[in-house]
Amino acid sequence: MNKPFILNLLSVVWLGLCLGACSPYTDQPIRSGEIWPDDRGEHINAHGGGVLYHDNTFYWFGEHKGERSSSAFVGVTCYSSKDLVNWKYEGVALSVSDDPESDITRGCTLERPKVIYNAKTGKFVMWFHLELKGKGYSAARAAVAVSDNVTGPYTYLGSGRVNPGIMAENITAEDFAWLDSLEEPLESWTPEWLEAVARGLYFKRDFEGGQMSRDMTLYVDDDGKAYHVYSSEENLTLNIAELSDDYLSHSGRYVRVAPAGHNEAPALFKRNGTYWMITSGCTGWDPNAARMFSAPSIFGPWTQHPNPCKGDQADITYGGQSTYILPVPGKKDLYIFMADIWRPRHPIDARYIWLPIQFEEDGTPFLEWMDEWNIKDYR
Ligand code: DGJ
Repeated sequence: MNKPFILNLLSVVWLGLCLGACSPYTDQPIRSGEIWPDDRGEHINAHGGGVLYHDNTFYWFGEHKGERSSSAFVGVTCYSSKDLVNWKYEGVALSVSDDPESDITRGCTLERPKVIYNAKTGKFVMWFHLELKGKGYSAARAAVAVSDNVTGPYTYLGSGRVNPGIMAENITAEDFAWLDSLEEPLESWTPEWLEAVARGLYFKRDFEGGQMSRDMTLYVDDDGKAYHVYSSEENLTLNIAELSDDYLSHSGRYVRVAPAGHNEAPALFKRNGTYWMITSGCTGWDPNAARMFSAPSIFGPWTQHPNPCKGDQADITYGGQSTYILPVPGKKDLYIFMADIWRPRHPIDARYIWLPIQFEEDGTPFLEWMDEWNIKDYR
């Protein structure tokens, strides 16, 4: 045997050994619905959250929930992990403010925070759904914060409705003219009203001031472009809006998705060039059947598929509501569907569902309940 051949053989063996031994994942299973203690032994308090993978570490950001109230009295929490099972509490990444004049004053509603990393600026950018204290869900604002450090502290930059005075790419002047021609106010939930909603009844109403933004997620594509996906138009229509290069504002390019479809809790992933989005219906804190959409491009066209959940309690997403989909690094086909089991009477006790997304032969994703499963079992 010649020397180069032996050297090559050794490096292949070494790589193989390393891939086995260096895998960060553990034998400990993921058990949805149970108490998930952090490194202090306290149930993880990061609801409506998402996970950022940065420098070989996972960072989970979510809403801190209290014993009795779902309002924000603490802020956005952060936990870190190497294996997605053992989580270290990293503290409050974005704190609510003691200033009663601040948008994020203690007692506001701060939901579904997501953090992404901007490789061009080196900054970590957090977006979340903000409702002003004492104003119910009427503000419907998107809010942004930034930090030089992944775990924070994050500095609140501002909030507002989205893309004021800017047309979505898939609504037309004819739609606006048709809406102008409607003479009587329409009765809600009639076919005529649904058609008007689909053609932009609330979009047009909010056009000058900007579109409403409630349940939301962020998605960063392979080319580094980031997108803000949110329930708009009184939760009746989703928007997918491109962010600016620094991720701190909107670029002005956006589309309406599933108009009049009444979707919340969007979560996105891409597999083999197809974008998939799982959402929920709108039933407050109560679970409902998940919905699923796919598209060949982030801007659509988006096609609706049947509920991706199978088996017992598929009609209520096993008691949960989607929040994020995490592609697991080093695992070719492992995407974790993350959902919240809300407990509105005891919000701090809300639980988490994490399930591996499975795929039909034709590539269509589906979900099945698993009492426990192990990341190590996936290649
Ligand atoms: C459902 C949303 O998905 C949650 O984030 C929260 O806003 C509740 N509704 C409030 O009822």
